Amino acid sequence: MDQTRLLKALDDLPLGAVKYFERVGSTNDEASTWVAQDAPDLALVIAEEQTAGRGRQGRIWTTVPGASLAFSLVIYPTEKSAHILPRLTALGALAVRDTLQKYYGLHSQIKWPNDVVVNRRKLAGVLAEAQWIGDQLGALVLGIGINIAAASIGTALREDGLRFPATYIESILERPVDRLELLHNVLAEVLRWRTRLASPEFLQEWEASLAFRGERVQIITGQSVGKDGLPPGLEGHPPTVVEGMILGLAHDGSLRLRTQSGEVVTVRAGEVRLRLMETSPIYE
Ligand code: BTN
Repeated sequence: MDQTRLLKALDDLPLGAVKYFERVGSTNDEASTWVAQDAPDLALVIAEEQTAGRGRQGRIWTTVPGASLAFSLVIYPTEKSAHILPRLTALGALAVRDTLQKYYGLHSQIKWPNDVVVNRRKLAGVLAEAQWIGDQLGALVLGIGINIAAASIGTALREDGLRFPATYIESILERPVDRLELLHNVLAEVLRWRTRLASPEFLQEWEASLAFRGERVQIITGQSVGKDGLPPGLEGHPPTVVEGMILGLAHDGSLRLRTQSGEVVTVRAGEVRLRLMETSPIYE
C-alpha cells in the first residue's frame, strides 16, 4: 500500500481527509489526537503497521505490514446522547459483515458487541472510542482491524486455535485479497449504515447476525474498559459475571440473556467479554 494508490482507491468516497502511515502506534490514538486538532467528519487514519495497536478490554492488537487492514474513522454523531453509542459501535461490525457477504460471498456473524466471526473464529475486531463533552457525545473514533493474510494472526494464534480461535480472509477464500478494494468496500458500507443508524432495520440486521444466539455463555461485565463505549462515570466498575443463554438484543443494543433461574437480563454494550462455556473453547 502507498499513499498514491490509497488515495486513488478511495477517491469516490466522501471522506473528510486521509492520513496514511507506514508505521504508527495506534490508528485510534492518531485519530483521537487529530480530533483534538479539529479533524473533519469522516477523517480516516490508516496504517500499514501498528506498534501499539489496541483491542477492547486492554488487549493488544498486532498489525504487521502487508497482512491486514488497520484503520480508524472519525465520526461526529448527529445524535449526541449516549443511547446512540452502541449502534455507532456496531456500525463497524455491520459494515464488515456486509462487505464480506456482498463482495466475497462470505457468511459472517457478529459476536456481540462488535467482533466479526466466521465459523466461530474471529476475523475482525472493532474498537470504538467515544469522546465526550459533558454527557454529550463529541466524536467517535471507529477503529477496525481485519485479518487478511496468515501473518495477520501470528503463529501463536494459528497453532493454538482452540484457545484463541482466529481466522483470516485469505485462508477461507483460498485466494489473495486486494486490501485497497476491501478497505474501499468496508468504508462504503460504514457510510451506508451511518445514514440508517436510527432505523429499525439497523437493530434487526445486527440481531439477525448475532453469533452464539441460543447458546449458553458467560459475560464478564464492568471490566476496566477505559473509554470503550462508556459515558463518563460508568468506567471501572468491579467485574461481575452473568451467565445465561443469548436471546437477542434490546432496543438500545444491549444483549438479552436468560439466566439459569429463568430471569431475562440485559447487559449493556461495551461492558462485556464473552466466553463460551462447557464444551466450547474459551473465546475472548
Ligand atoms: C478487538 O477485537 O478487541 C478490537 C480490535 C480493534 C483493532 C483496531 S486496528 C485499527 C484500530 N487501531 C487500534 O489500535 N485498534 C483498532
